[in-house]
Amino acid sequence: MKILLGVGGGIAAYKAAELARLLMQQGHEVQVIMTRAAEEFVRPLTFAALTGRKALTDLFAIESAIEHISVAQDHDLLVIAPATADLMAKLAHGLADDFLTTLYLAFTGPVAIAPAMNVNMWQHAATQANLETLRRRGHRIVEPDSGYLACGMTGPGRLAAPEEIAEAIASETRKRRDLEDETILITAGPTQEPIDPVRFLSNRSSGKMGYALAEAAAARGARVVLISGPVNLAPPRGVETVPVRTAIEMRDKVFERLAPATIVVKAAAVADFHVANAPGQKIKKTAARISLELDPTPDILAELGRKKGDRLLIGFAAETQNLQQEARRKLESKNCDMVVGNLVGGADSGFESDYNQVTLALSSGENIPLPLAGKREVADRIFDEALKLRLALHGQQITLLTDGLKS
Ligand code: CTP
Repeated sequence: MKILLGVGGGIAAYKAAELARLLMQQGHEVQVIMTRAAEEFVRPLTFAALTGRKALTDLFAIESAIEHISVAQDHDLLVIAPATADLMAKLAHGLADDFLTTLYLAFTGPVAIAPAMNVNMWQHAATQANLETLRRRGHRIVEPDSGYLACGMTGPGRLAAPEEIAEAIASETRKRRDLEDETILITAGPTQEPIDPVRFLSNRSSGKMGYALAEAAAARGARVVLISGPVNLAPPRGVETVPVRTAIEMRDKVFERLAPATIVVKAAAVADFHVANAPGQKIKKTAARISLELDPTPDILAELGRKKGDRLLIGFAAETQNLQQEARRKLESKNCDMVVGNLVGGADSGFESDYNQVTLALSSGENIPLPLAGKREVADRIFDEALKLRLALHGQQITLLTDGLKS
């Protein structure tokens, strides 16, 4: 594989030399790009000796002004190690003032980022916000280790071991165009059910999990239609986003777009009730108690379960207790292949959080608890397990078929 290794200007730059050596040993071609600050820590000659290729440094010192484009197109993966706080900020915001940051914008393949910096810089809200942006963009983050840092402090910030970064690179490349043959319909966010023209009933869903699923699916090559309730999130790149407001609008769009879908994921937190006969004018304040009459909304997932054909159907179960039992009950009652059980209401996981801890209930009878992780990582695990499940179900069908032929 042809790997681009971007080296930022931190003391950990010397470890990038070890990483380059390891990647060469594993049989990859490695092209190193150094920032100007990196050159203060390691000489380009070190990398040239290890990789057999001149390290690229200055954007303006090369013959062709568009070399960063051809270098980007000519490689399979970009790994940035160490990524300093400054470099992460530039990547997150799309600044392009040297070869590495310019190349990053021109590169369309998978990106892995291994940060290294002082513990306070790592924990700073600005760095954490940039980290989240990069993670949401689908980049693989190889988290820094905790330990003694060059600045004399102890804590997270030390560049991950070169072996760990190499392993992350290997798993990133194993992934990932495995959804290329799929058309995936995803719903996300809450729905809003009007009480009158200015008020509505809704819930605390942020849409982050559904959007992470859409981004993950698109990055793995799927055609993705995202039917989204009202959220404060940018439409993911490479995804067709269809905005809706109410449960009924969501239902109509889901069935309008269902035909080509091979996988359907219902991550939306659909309101279970809507106001019967919501008035066309604003309800005026009175001193007396008023009551709202609520009708149930259509259960979109249950209807999908009845009409799913050979599609893979994945539902969600947002629970505050009895997660596993409720996930399995919903799996069976709504005829799903997988239900992602999601504890909501806690601080670290669930609706508004960037992280999630879920349990997967599968129609094979298996329950798979996943560790607390970023929603994008959880999204990838959901698709990994969905593909495995389909293979298992498909295998079973083939066995049944051959059994039928035998008898
Ligand atoms: N769902 C749906 N249509 C509804 C309600 C829920 O499609 N009207 C889907 C959700 O998108 C989710 C799954 O059903 O994939 C479970 O939603 P959840 O709110 O957890 O469960 P409910 O079925 O509404 O049951 P309860 O509220 O009693 O837990």
